[in-house]
Amino acid sequence: GEVVEHTFRVGNLTIRKLCQERTVVAVNGHFPGPSITAHEGDSVVVHVINGSPYNITLHWHGIFQLLTAWADGPGYVTQCPIPPGGRYTYSFNIIGQEGTLWWHAHSSYLRATVYGSFTIYPRAGPGAYPFPKPYREVPLLLGEWWNANVVDVEEESLSTGGAPNISDAFTINGRPGDLYPCSRDQTFKLRVVHGKTYLLRIVNAALNQELFFMVAGHSLTVVAIDASYTVPYPTDVVVIAPGQTVDALLDATAAPGRYYMAAHTYASVAGVPFPNTTTTGILYYESSPPSSSPPIMPALPAFNDTPTAHKFYTNLSALLRPCDPQVPLAVDEEMFITFGLGLVPCDRKNSTCAGPFGEKFAASMSNNSFQLPTELSLLQAHFFKVPGVFTLDFPDRPPVVFNYTSPNVTLDVGLLQTVKQTRGKRFKYNSTVEVVLQNTALLGTENHPIHLHGFNFFVLAQGFGNYNPTVAKRSFNLVHPQVRNTIAVPAGGWAVIRFVANNPGVWFMHCHIDAHMPWGLGLVFVVEDGPTPSSKLPPPPADLPRC
Ligand code: C2O
Repeated sequence: GEVVEHTFRVGNLTIRKLCQERTVVAVNGHFPGPSITAHEGDSVVVHVINGSPYNITLHWHGIFQLLTAWADGPGYVTQCPIPPGGRYTYSFNIIGQEGTLWWHAHSSYLRATVYGSFTIYPRAGPGAYPFPKPYREVPLLLGEWWNANVVDVEEESLSTGGAPNISDAFTINGRPGDLYPCSRDQTFKLRVVHGKTYLLRIVNAALNQELFFMVAGHSLTVVAIDASYTVPYPTDVVVIAPGQTVDALLDATAAPGRYYMAAHTYASVAGVPFPNTTTTGILYYESSPPSSSPPIMPALPAFNDTPTAHKFYTNLSALLRPCDPQVPLAVDEEMFITFGLGLVPCDRKNSTCAGPFGEKFAASMSNNSFQLPTELSLLQAHFFKVPGVFTLDFPDRPPVVFNYTSPNVTLDVGLLQTVKQTRGKRFKYNSTVEVVLQNTALLGTENHPIHLHGFNFFVLAQGFGNYNPTVAKRSFNLVHPQVRNTIAVPAGGWAVIRFVANNPGVWFMHCHIDAHMPWGLGLVFVVEDGPTPSSKLPPPPADLPRC
């Protein structure tokens, strides 16, 4: 492999969007940030120089980081943040994965503007795909834009205990599109040649919203998700949760003309405000006759169209080639995790209490609101055996399995109280882990996209209601289940994932909705060293930032 080297200068950038001039944090003066392209087998080295006024870390979303947990990036999990004026070099190898991933800031809400695409070509080069070679490849980063400073948005939500303000626009490659005010010049445009095939590499980089995406007049064929090939899946609409990626082929075979590509919220939320706007880009044929009529708009599903979303999410299956890891059939560790929003008591003397029932919003896994440390990272505490930073007693069984979406039950506020602790679960090297993820939807019937660092997982089954092992196990796909790093678990629904803990380190699993992560919707997996020198986590690099 080659060495792919970048220098990322993080700093303030002043840009105009939605009729206003704003200063945001960006990399190398670009929003979105630089694209990284590499081949499977390459080494990647990124020198990060923090010229912004904030602490920051960068995360390479979906990269396995085999034996390089120190380069993974979640703040206070694998490293202390890079302070203003500081620097840190992330270096890692790309082994056994190819497709569409991305990178983003992993501290406070900074990833709203600090993100970019990360494309891994097969070792044999672009086009060596298990599908016909596309004529062109097009990264489409779907994002969310705030007029306000996002660090302030987060701090206000945490101090008041209320929900954070919703965003002001969605974006395609950083551009809101011409349905928003003052945005005519900020519309992503894709010029296509009739008869050619395009590979859309779609990333949901939005902070808090799942999205429906469509291109008018064109159907799509999904060929990969989360940098894992799928059995080709034809569809008109793509559903994509924060953290996920979708690779889709588009045949440019429509009548020459101009067509909108568009995305808006998929929100199964009852009574919770969400951004009710649509971002657009324009696909146009180079042979289009000049026209003054607006592009054709796709008919996006309704915001709450759960059947359409569920159909997309569950109809995907992996295209497992003989060289790909197959589903491990013997399970060493089973976990059952309930998760959702919850409440923590509010100290009325020192703050307002803008959450439900006069308390503060929290979120939890198995009633445990994950608390990040502040003095050193969890990976440092693990590696140097520093006691008292975290405990490994994460509950295997939650106190209650309870589904608010059932019409027969009323909400017991006592069930919403969570405890703030830094807790994880330890696995032996190479053990096979199966986790049932149960979205309780006790408070706020929201979907939660659960992201696992350091591993891909097989999605064996998904469904609605309370998880019933006898029924669910009959539906397990053990042959070609979809492979992901982020699974959108629907409100009042569940998913079963399985992975092999073959990478020593401390790995965050959390909701990829940025509003929910600081509220505590996460935990860490501690994977022990293996028996051989090549299965032990090496010591940290010398430039690892200090807290
Ligand atoms: Cu894409 Cu922990 O994040």
